Amino acid sequence: MTLRHSFIIACTSILLTACSKPVSEINTSSEIDNSAETAQLSQSTQSETAVAQEDQIEVGRDYHSLSNPEQIVVKHVSLDLAVDFDAKQLKGSATLDVERVEPTANQLILDTRELSILGVTADGADVPFEMLPTDVHLGTPLSIELPKGINRVTVQYTTSPDASGVQWLTPEQTAEKKHPFLFTQAQAIHARSFIPLQDTPLARMTYDAVIRTPKELLAVMSAANDPDTERDGVYEFTMPQPIPSYLIALAVGDLQFKAMGERTGVYAEASWLERAAKEFEDTENMLIETEKRYGEYSWGRYDLLILPPSFPFGGMENPRLSFITPTVIAGDKSLVALIAHELAHSWSGNTITNATWRDLWLNEGFTTYLTYRIMEFIYGSERYEMELVLGAQDLQAAIDNLPAKDQKLAIDLRGRDADDVFSNIPYEKGALFIRELEQKVGRENFDIFLLQYFQDFAFESITTEQFIDYLDTTLLKDHAEQLDRERIMQWIFEPGVPKGAPEADSDAFIVVDEARDKWLAGDLAATAIDTKDWNFHQWKYFLDNLPNQLTHDQLDELDDAFAFTQHPNNEIAHVWLLHSIYNWYEPAFERLYDYLTSIGRNKLVRPLYQALSATEEGKKFAQKAFAEAKSGYHPLTIRANEGYVQ
Ligand code: BES
Ligand code: ZN
Repeated sequence: MTLRHSFIIACTSILLTACSKPVSEINTSSEIDNSAETAQLSQSTQSETAVAQEDQIEVGRDYHSLSNPEQIVVKHVSLDLAVDFDAKQLKGSATLDVERVEPTANQLILDTRELSILGVTADGADVPFEMLPTDVHLGTPLSIELPKGINRVTVQYTTSPDASGVQWLTPEQTAEKKHPFLFTQAQAIHARSFIPLQDTPLARMTYDAVIRTPKELLAVMSAANDPDTERDGVYEFTMPQPIPSYLIALAVGDLQFKAMGERTGVYAEASWLERAAKEFEDTENMLIETEKRYGEYSWGRYDLLILPPSFPFGGMENPRLSFITPTVIAGDKSLVALIAHELAHSWSGNTITNATWRDLWLNEGFTTYLTYRIMEFIYGSERYEMELVLGAQDLQAAIDNLPAKDQKLAIDLRGRDADDVFSNIPYEKGALFIRELEQKVGRENFDIFLLQYFQDFAFESITTEQFIDYLDTTLLKDHAEQLDRERIMQWIFEPGVPKGAPEADSDAFIVVDEARDKWLAGDLAATAIDTKDWNFHQWKYFLDNLPNQLTHDQLDELDDAFAFTQHPNNEIAHVWLLHSIYNWYEPAFERLYDYLTSIGRNKLVRPLYQALSATEEGKKFAQKAFAEAKSGYHPLTIRANEGYVQ
């Protein structure tokens, strides 16, 4: 594997015109035509000119790591860490096995963020090290002088109580309220806040760990976990497959385990355990059905870990053990696409990995495509179509709201926080692009292509350009009549969505549109809408497509008929609360306050804070809720929302 490609992308003047197009001119069916301009664009993306120009991205260079795997690469990490809940610190050592890519290289550079480095040794002797200047986004590189012939160093360190990748919860912030809880979230660049390492998806490493905890607690990792391990406060783990650093994960708490199938199970605090195991009981089938099409699952077991509600994401695909928000335990499996998604990452993301964060769409776009497919394997085509329509609406919203430069699949992240790639573009635009490929070559052919793709790049990290090269030798060669290379370039390198992209529609939503229209026109009372067979997706679609401006009488009528304010489904409640904010509907505000102070999943709370911040009154409300919630929020949720309450 070559770590860095000499490939350079030129953002040509033509591309710049596209980059600077006002958002209002761009829509899902935007005219991105096959003109000469685009032809020139695709040539320039392939050009191997290495001329240094300001606008050029060095493809395959990770702008979010200051480490040097292209000279000396870390191949294995051995952790020995004690978990100190009182000090909110991990304390111990990381022993790194390295390989010299450049035989004469003698300086190993690791990423760190707010770590205290206590010493570095090799063969028991001190090794000189130095902290290099700090970059606000990237942290403080640790430079270690590596004596010739030495391929293993041990770094003694402690983490900061404010580490960006670790959340420490007090007993009161857990479900059982008896014991503290800790979890890490490394993606995108937070592994460096709890382990000194080469924090770039370009470098893959195996790892093992000894984790020392209070005796009554259990530690689990993104590694081989033994559900029957003795609870003695010393837990050992191995991850024998090479993974990128963002997939290293640890959680410690009063966890119980329940098997769901032969290879699947769930870890959770006691009061979530049964509910979670029931909600996610289809996980084993998802695994089996996915394997049938896309090849054997590479990772042994697939377990879920249910985190406290402060977990900032819906899910995180930590290998062998996906981390999952409890906010998707709805009681009716309506939100289990999240499990399909994290499971699908076992193929797209964990086995083949994006080389840099610019290439995130390779992880998330393929995974979102697979999520839809898995939902169809397990629940059938009606569910598939409904999920597609809801996804298409999310994509439209992203296109309406994001600047053109952030609507490209491969986005320029230089000088920006890696967390900025987190929008619906890599997910839904990525999935739509892949669905178009599928439709053009036929599903059967496309599944064969995917199976091969997953095998050909297993345990490698690849760039967007490597993917395009691969298309050139596979689909574009075998289906030249169905596919148009220039159009593929538009999908990847231009904002918006090319004209004629696949559409989604669902018969199940026709009745919903009719009912909503009649109700809005005053021709049908809310109580007269025949909703008894409506499923979650229909409700979500009903609410998502209400106009932003509603009268209090209308909101009262809906709430009286459907009890949205008290709705137990967190996604439904979320949309309802948004409408309540837009229209300053105070009867929902107690619930809103409760919601904001009990959930830390950013996707659910951030739009609420954002909507509140639009008015003075709203901002005051937001400030109060944020002040109360802050101590229980994850550092990422705090960072994402503090701007709305200032
Ligand atoms: N890997 C992502 C979460 C992520 C992405 C964390 C980028 C940090 C940076 C995970 O697989 C994910 O996509 N989660 C989504 C799930 C959803 C799309 C089903 C989430 O958390 O909302
Ligand atoms: Zn994902």
